[in-house]
Amino acid sequence: MKAGENYEAVFGSPPEAVASAPGRVNLLGEHTDYQGGFVLPTAIPQRATVSLGRNGTNTHVLRSASVPLALHVPVGSVGESFAPYLTGCFELSGVTEGLNAFIASDVPSGGLSSSAALEVATLRALRELYNLELDDVALALRGVQVEHEFVGVLCGVMDQMASSLADTRTLLLIDTRTLERRPVPLPAGAEVLVLDSGVPRRLAESGYNERRAQVEEASRLLGVAQLRDVLNVADLDGLHGILKQRARHVVSENARVLEALGADAAHFGELMNASHASLRDDYEVSHPNVDQLVALLQAHAQVYGARITGAGFGGAVVALVREGAALEVAQAVLPLYYQQSGVWGMRVVP
Ligand code: GLA
Repeated sequence: MKAGENYEAVFGSPPEAVASAPGRVNLLGEHTDYQGGFVLPTAIPQRATVSLGRNGTNTHVLRSASVPLALHVPVGSVGESFAPYLTGCFELSGVTEGLNAFIASDVPSGGLSSSAALEVATLRALRELYNLELDDVALALRGVQVEHEFVGVLCGVMDQMASSLADTRTLLLIDTRTLERRPVPLPAGAEVLVLDSGVPRRLAESGYNERRAQVEEASRLLGVAQLRDVLNVADLDGLHGILKQRARHVVSENARVLEALGADAAHFGELMNASHASLRDDYEVSHPNVDQLVALLQAHAQVYGARITGAGFGGAVVALVREGAALEVAQAVLPLYYQQSGVWGMRVVP
């Protein structure tokens, strides 16, 4: 099914602009992007597609393939449910007329940037509709602004940058302070497996904003602009308790990303395992069921390493596996996970 065809079925005329953007999976560098750190995501095949057209009124009419109701939002208002993702893009792009919008997305929610994909697709469709002068980086940053000002999540820049700039064949190393970036090949002989743990992300927004506030406090106490400026965990001695734990995750995670550049599959996998332990124990953004799934993956002979990915609190896990073995690993691990946890996981990539 094509989004354009659905737009036409719903609104009675073809869309004036159609654009899509992918979700992303992050291999290493988690919860570092709001402290100027390094991240290593890649795009996933699943995409959000947004079709737009003018409707000649002062009200936006927003439809989604996955929600039966139409949302009617006056121009200049934010709206509820999924509306802010679109109306935020409209507002920040200076839209002053009513638009019809139809969304179709197969990006699973929970750690794979379904919201960034929606924002980037919407902004791409607006760029096409109004011939906006917006390069791919400026577009990504506008998506981040939508999250901050309209959705209320104080996210970093990784997801929108990855959705706007990454492809599915290579990892994209992003320095989230300078926004410099370069493609990095996957380690030779390895491929990516992504599983959805089936654990819904609870408290993700409040937990996320709380973690962000904690590391901002930690960097303030250390007298650095961002934890990116701390190169060694030994330099965190001035901190105590939970702030030290949180900062230790960010500082050690940055070091892991840099160490992974050029690492072979076995070493890259070890760094992913260490990242999971740090996210579980120091940053405390994992979940017992997710830990079970990650442990099963890590124990499989064809797996180099595995960890929770994205903001955490449930959601997706990513594994680096021997090339050609992803399906076999998923088929072996998912039934064991169900036996242990009573939760059905799902294969997302490949
Ligand atoms: C979410 C945010 C990103 C990043 C990750 C954690 O996906 O949107 O900016 O902070 O969590 O790495």
